[in-house]
Amino acid sequence: MSLTPTREDKFSFGLWTIGYNGADPFGGPTRPALDVVEAVENLDRLGAYGLTFHDDDLFAFGSTEAERQTQIDRLKGALDATGIIVPMVTTNLFSAPVFKDGGFTSNDRAVRRFALRKVLRNIDLAAELGAETFVMWGGREGAEYDSAKDVQAALSRYKEAVDLLSQYVIDKGYGLRFAIEPKPNEPRGDILLPTLGHAIAFIETLEHPEMAGVNPEVGHEQMAGLNFTAGIAQALYQGKLFHIDLNGQRGIKYDQDLVFGHGDLQNAFSLVDLLEHGAPQGGPAYTGPRHFDYKPSRTESIDGVWASAAANMRMYLLLKERAQAFRADPEVQEALAASKVAELGVPTLDSGETYDALLADRGAFEDFDTDAYFGGKGFGFVRLQQLAVEHLMGARS
Ligand code: GCO
Ligand code: MN
Ligand code: MN
Repeated sequence: MSLTPTREDKFSFGLWTIGYNGADPFGGPTRPALDVVEAVENLDRLGAYGLTFHDDDLFAFGSTEAERQTQIDRLKGALDATGIIVPMVTTNLFSAPVFKDGGFTSNDRAVRRFALRKVLRNIDLAAELGAETFVMWGGREGAEYDSAKDVQAALSRYKEAVDLLSQYVIDKGYGLRFAIEPKPNEPRGDILLPTLGHAIAFIETLEHPEMAGVNPEVGHEQMAGLNFTAGIAQALYQGKLFHIDLNGQRGIKYDQDLVFGHGDLQNAFSLVDLLEHGAPQGGPAYTGPRHFDYKPSRTESIDGVWASAAANMRMYLLLKERAQAFRADPEVQEALAASKVAELGVPTLDSGETYDALLADRGAFEDFDTDAYFGGKGFGFVRLQQLAVEHLMGARS
């Protein structure tokens, strides 16, 4: 397979990722601002297919109507000239001082009403640009102090917001779905809906649960010490993987936003294998954008920005190639069978079998030889994992 990215690979980047100027809580920017037209042209040159953005990435918070429109027109011009699309749009409810206690769940009701208006306006723009997904990352929806936030009330207000926005999308006939992005902490000490599981459970309480899914980010689950691939598998199981944020993270610490694959490489390998081969019949389990939410390191100049953008796509394609080789290897097939991986897909009961029939099956219990499991019947998982890692390392082709 080719390692040169094409539109068919559906690689997309946030304008805030390649546009990150290197500022952090300890120091100022190391790079100048990136213009949206330059961003679109370079993504096109590198083989990406999509650009995503927050409203405030495109036009500064507090822009006049004319300033806002100028930037939208400049973006549209660049999209028309290149064929780059906007698969996803999101709203910044975290940078301005007004949002320091959150947007949808600020204790201050006036802030909540302002946040809803900001999002409604941005939903119109998302629909106008043909986006299919509207991401909600609630970085400021949370607290540092248990006494300061009524979490049950906050969840009610979050639901109130998503219910209103869903109704708006339905009434306007927009082709948009919402994707909630979990994160355990940073910038808040604790963020509402901290993991994929919390978000999926919350979605079931909505008025229109079918309109909401998740936008999980590699680093966010890993910041909580969780297995990202396993979480994605559950999101797929629940039909809720609406979008994905790919990046790299090394362990439980601040949100590193490294290049995809530059963190937990083994988990990145199993993730790509799942996305590409995880459907019941072995095909792609996820067909949406492969969206990178990373930060070019603060040490880099603009050349390093584009090199790191290219690195994300190359890492994905390399991992896809390695996963294909893994799946095609006869020894792997044999090891998978020995490990009974496919047997887990076989229902535990025969079709129509009742608990009475199970109770009558002496082979299942009375005559079942549990002793055979002492010193025998090993699953061979370590051998299988060794084969996976050897493929990942390119030691087998
Ligand atoms: C973060 C988040 C954000 C969101 C973005 C999209 O940790 O800063 O990942 O980058 O993905 O706001 O809504
Ligand atoms: Mn992040
Ligand atoms: Mn993200």
